[in-house]
Amino acid sequence: MAELTYEEYLGLAAFLKGVQPLTPESHGRVFAAEHFFIIAHQTTELWVKQVLMDLEHATAAVAGPDRDIELAAEHVGRAGKIIRLLIEHVGVLRCLQPRDFAEFRPALGSSSGAQSDQLHRLRRVLGLSDRPSPLLTELVAAATEQGETLVGIFQRAPHGRPLFRLAESMADLAHSFWQWQVTHVQVTNHAIGSARGTGRTSGVSFLAGRLAVPFPELWEARTRLHSRPLHTDPDGGGHPAQ
Ligand code: HEM
Repeated sequence: MAELTYEEYLGLAAFLKGVQPLTPESHGRVFAAEHFFIIAHQTTELWVKQVLMDLEHATAAVAGPDRDIELAAEHVGRAGKIIRLLIEHVGVLRCLQPRDFAEFRPALGSSSGAQSDQLHRLRRVLGLSDRPSPLLTELVAAATEQGETLVGIFQRAPHGRPLFRLAESMADLAHSFWQWQVTHVQVTNHAIGSARGTGRTSGVSFLAGRLAVPFPELWEARTRLHSRPLHTDPDGGGHPAQ
């Protein structure tokens, strides 16, 4: 049997062929700019594929019979690091000159990041749709089994405890996701100012209105830490796992 090559293992031929600017190659500067624009989107989609996988595995680990919180925290930690990377990833598009973008943008028609199926899935996993995040739901269920509340995880858990570590890694991921979205708004402003989006939205103001922090219930719990009078029972009479 022939030796497996690097190129075969990674499916590189098909993969690299997938970078197909609409601008003719003869328009050197604009062709290179569109190539850059496509790569920025494609690489983001690839990383998001991994983020979705890690978050699905994290949810399954918490929901499973063993309630493997350590493993879930590992997956969420990795997903958070990748999202942190994506901040620079979208930020690099500040190097896209508006004069070049204006030349190839009409060819995009109505295609838009707003059509990204993976990004919509990610928002759902992060609880930024009409339903709570499945990962957070499982975290609360695991906490309840241990007689703990979401507020209590932050209030009581010493730093080494798995539930605390998982909740903290989710908070960290949420922070990075928020920053990533803000950078996307900034880059959009840099590239198109107040022009409308190709997806026919108002552009920057639409995106600014969509900014949201993942796992809203987790932030509510952190907020409640500050609304407790000092020196009282941390359970405050304790409603389980809210
Ligand atoms: C010059 C760079 C970019 C510009 C000017 C830009 C512009 C926009 C605009 C105006 C929208 C709103 C929808 C519309 O009317 O089209 C949008 C949405 C979106 N863009 Fe970008 N974008 C850029 C880069 C990126 C990159 C690199 C990604 C990575 C995949 C991305 C992913 C998305 C997603 C997922 C949405 C939907 C956001 C939501 O529904 O909240 N964009 N973009």
